[in-house]
Amino acid sequence: MKIAVLASGSGTNLQALIDQLHHDKNSGVEIAVVISDRRKAYALTRAKEAGIPTHVVRVRDFPDRDAFDAEISKILDRYEVELIILAGFMKLFQPAFVRKYRNRIINIHPSLLPAFPGAHSVPDTLAYGAKISGVTVFFIDEGIDTGPIIAQASVPVFDDDDEESLFKRIHIEEHKLYPQVVRWCAAGRLEIVGRKVLVKES
Ligand code: GRF
Repeated sequence: MKIAVLASGSGTNLQALIDQLHHDKNSGVEIAVVISDRRKAYALTRAKEAGIPTHVVRVRDFPDRDAFDAEISKILDRYEVELIILAGFMKLFQPAFVRKYRNRIINIHPSLLPAFPGAHSVPDTLAYGAKISGVTVFFIDEGIDTGPIIAQASVPVFDDDDEESLFKRIHIEEHKLYPQVVRWCAAGRLEIVGRKVLVKES
């Protein structure tokens, strides 16, 4: 299955996908293209080192968000992408884009949704005093972090945690869970029934 990974930042999740899927000939997954909205995203360097084509699509270079989305769509078509993986991609898509790729865009979020959605989930978790946090992988819908949940993993929150230590613990789980979910998807094992995502036996 040809996938695209969209990333705005350091790309450690992209690296996990490269190492565990792209470089594994038996995974059935090829990262056909990496797209970023930031020229300086380290994710682009990781992709280039793995020989994966990269594209930078910046919001400021387009008259509006529909035009931005259309450019991304054009690239996805060019690489015959079947599944879109958001890995720290910090831009929201317009509803038309979400509808076009319904059930074909997956995101990862550093909390146990529906707790702590949005861009500040780790500091929000600490500020709230939650004792458990984790990772959620889900299909995106038109809302913010509201789509059907595919898989979750939990981590403890310790009294002396700061953002860095909690994020580090969460990242360890992300780097296991995301490649696992993409593997399931490539193997045709995910079935969406209403809000529920069923993982079928292989
Ligand atoms: C991850 O924590 C992910 O949950 C969130 O953005 C972060 C991206 O990290 N959506 P990285 O760029 O993959 O290191």
